[in-house]
Amino acid sequence: MKLFFHDYQPEFEDLSNTIQQGLQKFPKQLHPKLFYDAIGSQIFDRICAQPEYYVPTIEQQIYTTYAHEIIQHLPSNCQIIEPGAGSSKKIRVLLDQMQPNLYAPMDISAEHLRISAQKLSQDYPLLTIHAICVDHTQAYALPTEIPFSKRIFFYPGSSLGNFHPHEAIQFLQDLRNKVDLDGGLLIGIDTKKEHTILNNAYNDAAGATADFNLNLLQRINVELKSNIDINNFRHHAFYNAEKGRIEMHLFSETEQTIHINNNSFNFQADESIHTENSYKYTVAEFQALAAKSGWQSHKVWQDEKKYFSVHFLKPSKN
Ligand code: AVJ
Repeated sequence: MKLFFHDYQPEFEDLSNTIQQGLQKFPKQLHPKLFYDAIGSQIFDRICAQPEYYVPTIEQQIYTTYAHEIIQHLPSNCQIIEPGAGSSKKIRVLLDQMQPNLYAPMDISAEHLRISAQKLSQDYPLLTIHAICVDHTQAYALPTEIPFSKRIFFYPGSSLGNFHPHEAIQFLQDLRNKVDLDGGLLIGIDTKKEHTILNNAYNDAAGATADFNLNLLQRINVELKSNIDINNFRHHAFYNAEKGRIEMHLFSETEQTIHINNNSFNFQADESIHTENSYKYTVAEFQALAAKSGWQSHKVWQDEKKYFSVHFLKPSKN
């Protein structure tokens, strides 16, 4: 058996509390990690198949084109650790051409993680896999089975975009503290570009992103036994140029009151729940952010149109 499962999920995150606290804020907001229940994780995979959502296609293209070069930067027998691994699709291009000492996918959705880790283990029977179910946005320690030497964090998909820049620095510093001087970080970052392209990527014509966003309300209905009328909300995402981020919102179609457990939450017509930020960085902006976090840029790979960037970073010398 080369597949190990570590369950670090806190007993039960108090979903009711988290959601009610978010809805009490002004403006109302819910954390994007709440999207990823089993259904949400599946809808996210559907988003990744939409033509407007260029992120996974272009990033994959970069890995395919430059796999050989990327691998040359990774020490042999390294430990590849992937926070928020989801379906563990992107790592495959690298695993096809190299054999790390182990691969440790981490994800908040236990079921999704279990299924994708099993699939990966079937496809790469020689690979040692340590699947870790954890909320990587909270403090965590890696299992002791993962050696400290030659740790390479893999953080693709521009997942860093979900963090406010000051949180992104904290997150990158935490990764820095989890590796030795022989470690590294391979990270995919979505870049700033024409606003129409960004806006379309988060408002796809097939409505996958809308389903993803609205599923959050469905999840509240199921898990907290509410009866929010999903038809009374609409998905909308837009690029906020001043802040350099896509914002996703659920807008209330009418003035309405929703009930969760014994509490009620009032909405004005067109009032929103802010459900996600997706920050975009130029290559120089990201390198500056990384430098503030103890990482030094060693190499950047980009597609022809420069829609996306993949960075390899090492711990700073000082
Ligand atoms: C998983 C956070 C990288 O921001 O592009 C995609 C999530 N939300 N479409 C992103 C997402 C709507 C995605 N990240």
